[in-house]
Amino acid sequence: MRIDILTLFPNMFSGPFNESIIKRAIDRQLVSIVIHNLRDYTSDRHRIVDDYPYGGGPGMVLKPEPLFAAVEAIKGEVQTPVILLTPQGRLFDQRAAEELATYDQMILICGHYEGVDERVREHLVSDEISIGDYVLSGGELAAMVVVDAVVRQLPGALGSEASAGEDSHASGLLEYPQYTRPQVFRGWGVPEVLLSGNHAKIARWRREQSLLRTLRRRPDLVEGAELSTEERRLIERLKREMPPWRQV
Ligand code: 6GU
Repeated sequence: MRIDILTLFPNMFSGPFNESIIKRAIDRQLVSIVIHNLRDYTSDRHRIVDDYPYGGGPGMVLKPEPLFAAVEAIKGEVQTPVILLTPQGRLFDQRAAEELATYDQMILICGHYEGVDERVREHLVSDEISIGDYVLSGGELAAMVVVDAVVRQLPGALGSEASAGEDSHASGLLEYPQYTRPQVFRGWGVPEVLLSGNHAKIARWRREQSLLRTLRRRPDLVEGAELSTEERRLIERLKREMPPWRQV
């Protein structure tokens, strides 16, 4: 996969993509990430990327010409997603990350200032994404979040030992609790079942812990999770056993 990022602040990207899973995915040539300075796509002497809003008001607006020029120079195929990172976009989630990972290319545009000329939204961009209900100073940090979530979905990105299918959220549920050595730390032990060697029993305990944790922390996720009839029944029992202020 190729990921192109359009930004006014290319230096912001030097850190996160040179570490850990993304670095490994780049080294293995599973992905190439190209950062473009939007100013390189201006055609005036002063390399101007923004201007005052028509109708007045505070702040500056990103001009359409450099964005159109950049996307038209970079985009390979008609179906390539061109995504504007903006707090006005649809909320990014695991499903969106899985979907984006199926493309050969995606183009991320980092919004800035008070906004982006509306004609970019209407005629250049295929999708607008937000990473949560809070305001960031620009789309760069959001773009990094999207890149990380997408790249870890690419086959081979996580190495042989793990797969993205086991991630929290992949099944629609939160992850079960994990423990490692020492067996007793400051007097706090590890759940007995994990030491039993009974793999079926461990799998059942973990699934139950996932359900319980999701029910307690993110009851909104239970509805959309992939659950068997037996698990739906277990959910009903867990709900009944919860303290009343937790009941959903
Ligand atoms: Cl994508 N951009 C900005 N500026 N703020 C955000 C965001 C994006 N997602 C959440 N807040």
